[in-house]
This record gives sequence, C-alpha cells and structure tokens, in this order.
Amino acid sequence: MNRKVPVEGGKVKYYLAPMEGITGRIFRKAIHDHFGEGIDKYYSPFLVIHEKIAISNKELKDVLPENNEGMRLIPQILTNDAKGFIRTADYLTKLSYDEVNLNLGCPSKTVAGKGRGSGFLSDIKGLDEFLYRIYEGCKCSISIKTRIGVSDPEEFEELISVYNKYPVKELIIHPRVRYEYYKGSPHRDNFFKYVEKSVNPVCYNGDVFSERDIEQLMTGTGSRLDAVMIGRGMLKDPSLIRRLNGGDKYTEDEIKAFLNRLISDYKYELSGDKQVLMKLKELWAYLGQSYPDKEKVLKQLLKCTTLQELKILQEQIIG
Ligand SMILES: Cc1cc2nc3c(=O)[nH]c(=O)nc-3n(C[C@H](O)[C@H](O)[C@H](O)COP(=O)(O)O)c2cc1C
Repeated sequence: MNRKVPVEGGKVKYYLAPMEGITGRIFRKAIHDHFGEGIDKYYSPFLVIHEKIAISNKELKDVLPENNEGMRLIPQILTNDAKGFIRTADYLTKLSYDEVNLNLGCPSKTVAGKGRGSGFLSDIKGLDEFLYRIYEGCKCSISIKTRIGVSDPEEFEELISVYNKYPVKELIIHPRVRYEYYKGSPHRDNFFKYVEKSVNPVCYNGDVFSERDIEQLMTGTGSRLDAVMIGRGMLKDPSLIRRLNGGDKYTEDEIKAFLNRLISDYKYELSGDKQVLMKLKELWAYLGQSYPDKEKVLKQLLKCTTLQELKILQEQIIG
C-alpha cells in the first residue's frame, strides 16, 4: 500500500471511536465488512454498571464475541464505582476480553453531573483511589479515554501525574475540557505537551477528518504518536481510515452497498421501519456533510417520514 503520511518508528494505529446510539454492533460489523481495512480496534459505546447484575441483556448482545467476529473490540465501562467496574470487567474477561476501557470523557449533564465520565475529573483524590482499586482488582488490561479537565486545559498537568501511577494500557486523550462539550477546536497544543509527559502509550482523539490532521499530529508529536481514534470523521466518510492508510475514498457503489447493508441489518434487529429510519437519519446528519452541493435534498432526507422516502432521497444524493 502506498502510504501518503510518513510515520517514523512504525505505522500509526487507527481506532473507531465509541458513539452511543450509533456505533453499536450492527454499525461496527458493517464498517468492519465494508471499510475495515486498517481499523486496528473498535470500542463499544459505554456500558453502565448495574446494582445486581454485571451487564444487561441488551449490553451483552452488543459485546458478545460471536456478534463481533473478526474485529478487535474493546468494551467500554462508564462508572465511578470501583466494585461495579471490577464486577463488569471480570464478566467481560470471562467472555474472553483481555482489555476494557474506562470512560472519563463523557461530558453530558446526566453522566458528568453524577461524577462519572468527565465529571470524575474534578475529584482527583477520588479518581486516584478508584484507579488504585481497579488496577489492583482487575485481571484484564485497562485503557482510559479521558478529556483534559473539567473547565481548564491546564488541569491535565495534575491528571497526567495520576494516570502515570498506573499501568494504563493506552491513554486516549480527547483534548477538550468537560464544559466545551464538542464545541470549538481541540487543544492540540496542550495534547502535544502532554504526550511527552505520559509514561503510558498515548492515543489522540478529536476532530480528525483528513490527512492534514494526521500530518499536523505527527509534526506536533515529533512522530511519537502510537494511535489515533476517530469518531465523527468515520461517519462523515466511512472510508476515512482506509484513506489515511493510503487507500481510496469510497465509490458510489461502495457507499450504496454499505447503506443497504445497514438498512437490512437494522430491519432484522429493530422493531419497525421508523426505528430504522431514525438510525439512518442519524448517520446521514454526518455523512451528508460529504455532499455540500446536495444541501437541499439532504434537508428533505433529514425531515422525511418513511424509509421508502429516505431510500429515494439517498439515491439522489449519492448518485
Ligand atoms: C453521538 C455521540 C455519542 C458518543 N458516545 C460515546 C461513548 O459512548 N463513549 C465515549 O467514550 N465517547 C463517546 N462519544 C465521544 C466520541 O467517542 C469521541 O470522543 C468524540 O466524538 C470526539 O472524536 P471525533 O471528533 O473523532 O468524533 C460520543 C460522541 C458522539 C458524537
């Protein structure tokens, strides 16, 4: 393969980011089968901790190895309860997973407001104790996906010294603070500063949409970047990781086949066309950005009320 982005010291790895409501097993499998070339890992949307059970039936279905064949899936856990984390991680280990991911990034009020996700970053002492307990208590490796603070990017200075105390399998850094949600640009300069300070392998995440972004990350880190996790960029262009690995952008036939596959698998899984329609519209909100000249049809698509209508409109956009 002809690599367009030179990387010193080995190839950069690419991961599909977890996106709740979007990157469930049906989406992951379709991406894997149609555009999986060069995707090294897939992350499940967050699993929550339950009082009496390790995992709910719906969550279990999403992460069962037989439903994720052929790909390296890392299940993600969202909690600030060490006992619950260990219970769920142990269960996942029995399912054959050797790594789980801890979510310290979710900015939403319902999550962070309860001291979970990026909300946990404001309680450094509590976080340190939690990490001590899970790294002591879990049999599997634990990677961390984190924001760089709650309200000030400089908060990461203290956070990284906490992360450095533990054998973090991989530290995935989304360089925004909690209150920025997904607004503005990620603080890449802060990220460059912290890559050097991490004793653990680092993965970058945030607003990667093109080869230029990778070139900027490589320059800023002196090519010391192990991995890049991509979310919305893969919804906008499902062939993005293939392109970053030197391959081509998707063809008309490829994107049609991918969308038809999604429709057919969602139809089988979900109850009724309305739910399938919602899933496809959610994807089109991102994919549509790749068709700036089709704005009018895209608007119609995002408002349409039947799956039949959506299929006709998407043909008009792609074809
Ligand atoms: C709709 C949506 C759902 C998300 N769900 C999760 C999640 O379950 N777990 C998580 O760690 N991050 C979640 N994220 C954050 C993404 O994984 C990622 O960090 C973020 O989108 C920034 O990366 P990007 O610019 O490549 O999209 C979600 C983001 C979006 C837009």
